[in-house]
Amino acid sequence: FQTLWEGGPDGLHLLLNGLKVTIVVTLFAITAGVILGTLLALMRLSKNKVANIISKLYVEIIRGTPVLVQLLIIYFVIFRALDVDKTMASSLAFGINSGAYVAEIIRAGIQAVDKGQMEAARSLGLPHRLAMKEIILPQAIKNILPALGNEFIVLLKETSIIGFIGGNDLMRAGNKIRSITYEATVPLFATAVIYLIITLSLSHLLNRYERRLHSSD
Ligand code: ARG
Repeated sequence: FQTLWEGGPDGLHLLLNGLKVTIVVTLFAITAGVILGTLLALMRLSKNKVANIISKLYVEIIRGTPVLVQLLIIYFVIFRALDVDKTMASSLAFGINSGAYVAEIIRAGIQAVDKGQMEAARSLGLPHRLAMKEIILPQAIKNILPALGNEFIVLLKETSIIGFIGGNDLMRAGNKIRSITYEATVPLFATAVIYLIITLSLSHLLNRYERRLHSSD
């Protein structure tokens, strides 16, 4: 911590401010991603052909291109004329990106519920909508929530590319300290440790939650 210390509270300040940006972007992106992903999954599972194709195309295009390219396009092409805040542009880019992954998580979670569950519900006289709500979704949630937690962790780490558009996230802060102090080890390890503390805590929480979800089995 010598370097961080010699860099004065400035170094720590930079990291903490960066951490704030990282967290804000991740929280916004996962929220947007879940909303968008739910919509896309519903479109994908519906009988409407047009909705089907749109959802499929969206998922294929977003998952088939690097999130870095998407971020650069959104910031430098789409928002070029407008003077959009970098945190805002990143949040949007990661939300749009996450939506595609969340859509697949939800779709897979629903389809993983045994077909017999729907058949049994229907043969007992439940209308499709009700069977979905009362029988299928409660079971699908057990597949969906843990995977969503994972997506949250992936997203948090993935936001480390925000520096490419000049945003000041945690990674950028660590890298800045490196270039100001000419000392790489401490700032880079400090950055890694901060990410690690968050991801480990998150996955710890997730594991506990997952065990609770399955205790009713
Ligand atoms: N690094 C991969 C890419 O560039 C993953 C993108 C984000 N992944 C996610 N689950 N949201 O395409």
